[in-house]
Amino acid sequence: MCSIIGYKGSDHASSVLIEGLKKMEYRGYDSVGIATIKSGKLLTRKGVGKVAEVNKSLRLDELPGKLGIGHTRWATHGGIVDHNAHPHLACNSTIAVVHNGIIENYDELKEELNRSGHKFKSETDSEVIAHLLEEYFEITRDIRLSMIFTCKRLVGSFAFVAVFNSSTLCGARYDEPLIVGVGNDDYFLSSDILGFLNHTDKAIFLDNRDIVVINDSDISFFNFDGDKISRKITQVAWELGDADKGKYSHYTLKEIHEQQQTIVKSLEQDKKNLENFCNVIAEAKNIFITGSGTSYHSALLAKQILSKSKIHVETIMSSEFQYSSDMLDENSVLLAISQSGETADVMESVKAAKDMGAKVLSIVNIPTSSLARLSDSYLEVNCGPEIGVAATKSFTSQIALLYYVADIIGRKSNGIIDSKEILTKSVSEVLELDSQIERVANQIKDSKDVYILGRSFHYPVSLEGALKIKELSYIHAEGMAAGELKHGPLALIDNNSIVIVIHPNDSTYSDTLSNIHTIKSRGAKIVGISNKRNDVYDYQIIIPTISEFLYPLIEVIPLQLLAYYLSICNNANPDYPRNLAKSVTVK
Ligand code: M6R
Repeated sequence: MCSIIGYKGSDHASSVLIEGLKKMEYRGYDSVGIATIKSGKLLTRKGVGKVAEVNKSLRLDELPGKLGIGHTRWATHGGIVDHNAHPHLACNSTIAVVHNGIIENYDELKEELNRSGHKFKSETDSEVIAHLLEEYFEITRDIRLSMIFTCKRLVGSFAFVAVFNSSTLCGARYDEPLIVGVGNDDYFLSSDILGFLNHTDKAIFLDNRDIVVINDSDISFFNFDGDKISRKITQVAWELGDADKGKYSHYTLKEIHEQQQTIVKSLEQDKKNLENFCNVIAEAKNIFITGSGTSYHSALLAKQILSKSKIHVETIMSSEFQYSSDMLDENSVLLAISQSGETADVMESVKAAKDMGAKVLSIVNIPTSSLARLSDSYLEVNCGPEIGVAATKSFTSQIALLYYVADIIGRKSNGIIDSKEILTKSVSEVLELDSQIERVANQIKDSKDVYILGRSFHYPVSLEGALKIKELSYIHAEGMAAGELKHGPLALIDNNSIVIVIHPNDSTYSDTLSNIHTIKSRGAKIVGISNKRNDVYDYQIIIPTISEFLYPLIEVIPLQLLAYYLSICNNANPDYPRNLAKSVTVK
């Protein structure tokens, strides 16, 4: 999604802004732009494309000045064209704005501003912010008041940063993240700490309805009602910024391989915090789990994992939560799972649950995220920055941690903690299949449709595998419960079909084997992921034997690798799949 960066200090602003935008590229975008202030003059350049490309053709980093704002846009309102890229300028070119989120009442505001003589140059919802600021500044001649009046008029979700040619940098947030970086003699405003972590590890996390105004003499904070407020500086971990590809050609491949360490790392929890977290679940009358995309697949697995500890939970996809939130009350607990902790659908669910009086727990990768801060209690999966748009290591970390939670609640000995060594060894063995899986990808790369089957625990993994193949390789893929095949999807199977079967030798083995025979007799090619060789498979991916309940942790890895290599075979960029963003902050 869009990334925002603002800078005021002693350095050459445009270089700092470009560097920050590059660090946030993983969030996904289609256009880029920056604006700086030099000697009271506002200068701006913007265009469609990647930061490096646009910078090469327009030399964004040559704009002079020590104050500026930058943006990468992920289009929602208005096409992907240069004039819709941010920053957007007010009519008299003294104010420029970059925005992340959606202004729901922009049509109405635009009409009103048009009537007052404002001229719009883009089709975006964001541009109204620049004109509103200008309108209120003309009336009040006061930047703080202009910010307050503008924020009060906006309906929707937003984080925006504005520069005024009087040398002031301001920002405001409502339901979208905005973080202040505090350097020695400079300030940053960014959607993500990665935007400034090369310069400072001191951050101020703005709350909803916060406004920050930074001028030559000081930094001050207000709420939308105009009350002065104070905000604490937090020291963030430098390691969060430590994201590079190492020896791998893509972040996605690196992150898949990192699972050898990250799965067990997610089990390193503060005992007390973990116990408190588990107690809340154990004492709840009704438990709901929510998440989006991959994190929703973790929720589906959590349901099965917890049921083994005799805990019944309901799962609700976050984007569907608003239609079911009536089921929650003050005796309910909502467990929200999210890598980023910023997903709009998840945040909406959490707010709805809070409104119903429910307690909110979360499992996140970013402890400073909006979700963690809104939760009554949270656990961190601790898998380090996940830059690839496809969730890989965060998925296995989430489920490993969920096994641990289930073991504690169910007072189970011989649980995942006792399997740490065998787990690490098994993950490493699966990762050694890398080149074999690359060969399988080459064999099936021209398929139009791929089906993935699994029963029990393997069913959510089949959904996750299909999601990975769709988003990375753009091949249509469908995950399904193997037993459901005969209830309809079998009609699709013919000798062009590729069917991947998650088929370890466990309690699901013989039923799934019957399904395989049914498919095979219709001419489909079978890719078997199993710990047991079987001639029924056309391609065998042999994984190690492990305790039955832990298979999801290792069997998803061949599917992630397969999706990665299918993406390479099909000339897609696995790190930045088309149309997708890492942090989905719109509903
Ligand atoms: O940050 P979150 O876990 O809340 O993100 C949720 C989904 O947007 C995310 O898992 C998405 O489905 C992934 N790109 C899938 O690989």
